Amino acid sequence: MINVDLKGQVALVTGGNRGIGRSVALALAKNGAAVCVTGRNHDLLGSTASELQAVSPESFSMECDVRDPSAQSRVFHEILRRFQRLDVCVPNAGGATLASATQTTLEQWRTDIDTNLTGVFITATEALKIMMKQKHGHIIGVVSKAGTTAFVARAAYCASKWGARGFLKCLALEAQKHNVKVTALCPASVATDFQKNNPAGTDWMMSPDCVAEAILYLLGLERNAYVDEWLISTWEKPEKDKAKLDQGKLPLGEIARA
Ligand SMILES: NC(=O)c1ccc[n+]([C@@H]2O[C@H](COP(=O)([O-])OP(=O)(O)OC[C@H]3O[C@@H](n4cnc5c(N)ncnc54)[C@H](OP(=O)(O)O)[C@@H]3O)[C@@H](O)[C@H]2O)c1
Repeated sequence: MINVDLKGQVALVTGGNRGIGRSVALALAKNGAAVCVTGRNHDLLGSTASELQAVSPESFSMECDVRDPSAQSRVFHEILRRFQRLDVCVPNAGGATLASATQTTLEQWRTDIDTNLTGVFITATEALKIMMKQKHGHIIGVVSKAGTTAFVARAAYCASKWGARGFLKCLALEAQKHNVKVTALCPASVATDFQKNNPAGTDWMMSPDCVAEAILYLLGLERNAYVDEWLISTWEKPEKDKAKLDQGKLPLGEIARA
């Protein structure tokens, strides 16, 4: 994996207790950053914090539902209390409803929008307020390929991710005046719990470490270079599923996962 010197730097990764967020947090910690990971699952937060502390002793975890502004506020207060700075913020927490537009309930819609869009809004704006004062920092939102295209049975998820990508692009314009970079990172399928029911399996998907490596690359770019958004596609999909998709033979749930 790429090496970047992050010694003395402080990072926040939401949804950092497992999946992509855990890989990103470990990569940042191994490169010297003190990392705060957040999420809702207490036990997983504890085990990931232990892994982080083994390589970066000042790292820690906090329970936080990104839909709760007060909980998010407590995380930023704690980071500032401990370190008086925040250099890297990775709004990553997210989830997806599996339903077409007409099958999506209002509750499902609100869950996806609140988590994947409003959650990112709160995390990224709080981070930028700190970074604006420092006149430096990098916010890298883990969006999705679903923020750049349409999937029939992920209507609410796509809407939330298109929204997050649009929002991050607006934030980037404001941030640039304060020497802060904002990137919308849009990976396609990644082999995590998120994909555990995918009928095509996960062998063809990229690993969460691949997303972590992309983030290290972004952080290592020279000051004069900037990536505002980055779509990372999978190289291929299982041929049998592509054929079934083309013929419209996959049931709705499988189309969503393919
Ligand atoms: N896997 C993919 O194919 C893929 C592709 C592109 C983009 N993404 C995006 O990457 C991000 C991470 O996904 P993943 O693949 O790592 O999925 P995952 O393994 O299911 O992990 C999701 C993470 O988000 C956290 N989370 C979910 N809802 C939350 C909430 N309301 N408040 C706080 N934390 C919450 C979870 O922690 P708790 O459950 O403990 O709260 C967990 O840490 C998501 O935004 C996802 O949309 C995934």
